[in-house]
Amino acid sequence: MNRTEKLLSQMTLAEKLGQLTMTAAGYAVTGPVIAGDSTEAIKSGAIGNLLNLVGPGPVREMQQLAVEHSRLKIPLLIGLDIIHGHRTLFPIPLAEAALFDPQTWEATAREAAREGAADGLAMTFSPMLDVSRDIRWGRTAEGSGEDTWVAVHMARAKVKGYEGSDLKAADSLAACAKHYCAYAPVLAGREYASVDISARTLLEVHVPPFDAAVAAGVATIMPAFTDLDGVPMTANKKLLRHHLRNQLGFQGVIVSDYNAIAELMHHGIAADLAEAAALALNASVDIDMMADAYRKGLPVALERGLVTMALIDESVLRVLQLKERLGLFDDPYRRGTQQEAPAVLTRRRDLCRSVGARSIVMLKNDRDTLPLRGTLRRVSVIGPLADAAIEMGGCWGAAGKPEDRVSVVAGLRSAAPGKDIVHAPGVAFVGGDESGISAAVDLCNDADAVVLCIGEKADMSGEAASRAFPEVPPLQRTLAEAVFERAHAKGLRVVVVLFSGRPLVIPWLAEKADALLAAWFLGNEAGNAIADVVLGRTSPSGRTPMSWPRAIGQIPLFYGERPGGRPFNPKDHFTSHYMDVSNDPLYPFGHGLTYGRCSLASLVVSSDRVSEKDTLEVRVDVTNQGAYLAEETVFLFIHDKVASVTRPVLELKGVGKVTLRPGETKTVRMTVPGTEFRFLGMDLTPVFEPGEVEVLVGPCADRSQLLLQTIRLVS
Ligand code: NOJ
Repeated sequence: MNRTEKLLSQMTLAEKLGQLTMTAAGYAVTGPVIAGDSTEAIKSGAIGNLLNLVGPGPVREMQQLAVEHSRLKIPLLIGLDIIHGHRTLFPIPLAEAALFDPQTWEATAREAAREGAADGLAMTFSPMLDVSRDIRWGRTAEGSGEDTWVAVHMARAKVKGYEGSDLKAADSLAACAKHYCAYAPVLAGREYASVDISARTLLEVHVPPFDAAVAAGVATIMPAFTDLDGVPMTANKKLLRHHLRNQLGFQGVIVSDYNAIAELMHHGIAADLAEAAALALNASVDIDMMADAYRKGLPVALERGLVTMALIDESVLRVLQLKERLGLFDDPYRRGTQQEAPAVLTRRRDLCRSVGARSIVMLKNDRDTLPLRGTLRRVSVIGPLADAAIEMGGCWGAAGKPEDRVSVVAGLRSAAPGKDIVHAPGVAFVGGDESGISAAVDLCNDADAVVLCIGEKADMSGEAASRAFPEVPPLQRTLAEAVFERAHAKGLRVVVVLFSGRPLVIPWLAEKADALLAAWFLGNEAGNAIADVVLGRTSPSGRTPMSWPRAIGQIPLFYGERPGGRPFNPKDHFTSHYMDVSNDPLYPFGHGLTYGRCSLASLVVSSDRVSEKDTLEVRVDVTNQGAYLAEETVFLFIHDKVASVTRPVLELKGVGKVTLRPGETKTVRMTVPGTEFRFLGMDLTPVFEPGEVEVLVGPCADRSQLLLQTIRLVS
């Protein structure tokens, strides 16, 4: 018997249920505020896991209760939502996705793990791997956007980054792939609503990132709050027990979402807590986060014969094994004993700044408005997001401190000392007060450049932040229109820095802005990163990981649609189109400009016949004819022309990145294993079908900008 099995054999039912329970320590930066009698409960072994506790001191204090005062001395598992950084907040995941760079995704997760572990934590509830094609859904901000290939690569990188090479290491965290599965396509983009998608969409779009996380060794998985096709994920035996456990062999811990087990009653599939607990346990959910359904419900469920002790033991063992893997039995205080050196913190801030600058997507840059050049005496920075350091943090604050965040005004001032950087917010985020607009607009009178900072407040995206009008809030639009009018009348161009946790519907803004930067939420170094791009120290290189709709009615809009029987033909009325807006996005997936002038030529495929066992190599030359250093991203799509089931018009299969000096040409190479040409056939199992496939390479998902070669798949 190993240590965990021996422990299990000594446990009472109450102690077992304690290991299956996670409760929140009321979060306080100065110390733990554990609600009610939790302190006693830890000592008695009735609570085995905590969330929302931060800091080496408080963590040690709680851990001591468990390992020095409880009967079996089982250490606590302590976790927090470290979503895009812990104390150093990095760009939100959607922003970081714009890098299309797994190495960087891994690097930021590694740094977040180091910081979180230094604060005593052993687990993060991240990464979020939900593929979102509906910008109304607020949690779009927490994921990697609309594409499954990107989410798969994000999954691998983040799991590796958080968990490091050894989960036991004092700087590693257990990652949590969430929210399994298909949480994003909630009805009409409304948070927590029901989900009803086809089995094909589930398997092709939403499951692969989680499969990738399991293959990468993710330690834990969290089911989504939502139901899928009538079965809430927290009780979804088919996907949790059958797919994750039996098919993939996932032996890690499944932790419920917050109160989700009790919510099975609201879903209407459990009459009481005992039934809810039994459904979740039978589906193989190990830890009950915040519902207290296992402690209250499982004893009753046992009596009623709804669960067995063997099933409870199975889950307890998985929790104990996770604690073992994390090294907590060997040394429960291994995390949070060493303070990080100042040089480490400086390096981390530098990483945050450079990732921030690279996450910015330059959507438009008419007549080279950016970067700002020439003699700049006065720059007017207008809008409620210009001097709003706190907002830069984005949707998950973790243990970040507002005073560590840099606003746009502060960033510009420190990057351009001696320049007159003047600022007026113009309007507030809430209410309808327009009285500040005229003073803000007057700042255009005597300026050399105008930078308008508008968009969403940070809490307008994230959990429970669905929006029926995913637009720039109306009052800010009034401000912006007034600024455009005055600035343009004076012959001044306007640079718009747009903040948001999702693409917004902004046709008017795209038309009027002279330059438009999607700045998402970039974290602590936001203002410095934005100044780097605006002033030309860094050429923007981010590419949008989601399509930007022209109209709300186009949602959900994504590049990988199926063609349908009547694909749009402008000469034929009876083909798929709207009467009032074009089908195309305002900005396609992958769009993003640089200060360089990059072009692609000479697409070469290694062979025009590819079998399942081959690897296709694709090469393309990229030239920078501009005057700035440029980081260019090249996308490789395929389109299976004739197959037994309809295939998307484009499918991403590879991404290449290259940095080019002015005048430089480099060849970008990408490879596609033959197995990548498989798809799910009629019976939803993978098939490789001989026939013609288009290989398309270019700067974004706009087909007219792609170079094309046709290959033949052979058996
Ligand atoms: C609810 C969220 O859905 C989940 O993502 C998060 O990890 C938990 N709350 C814990 O904060």
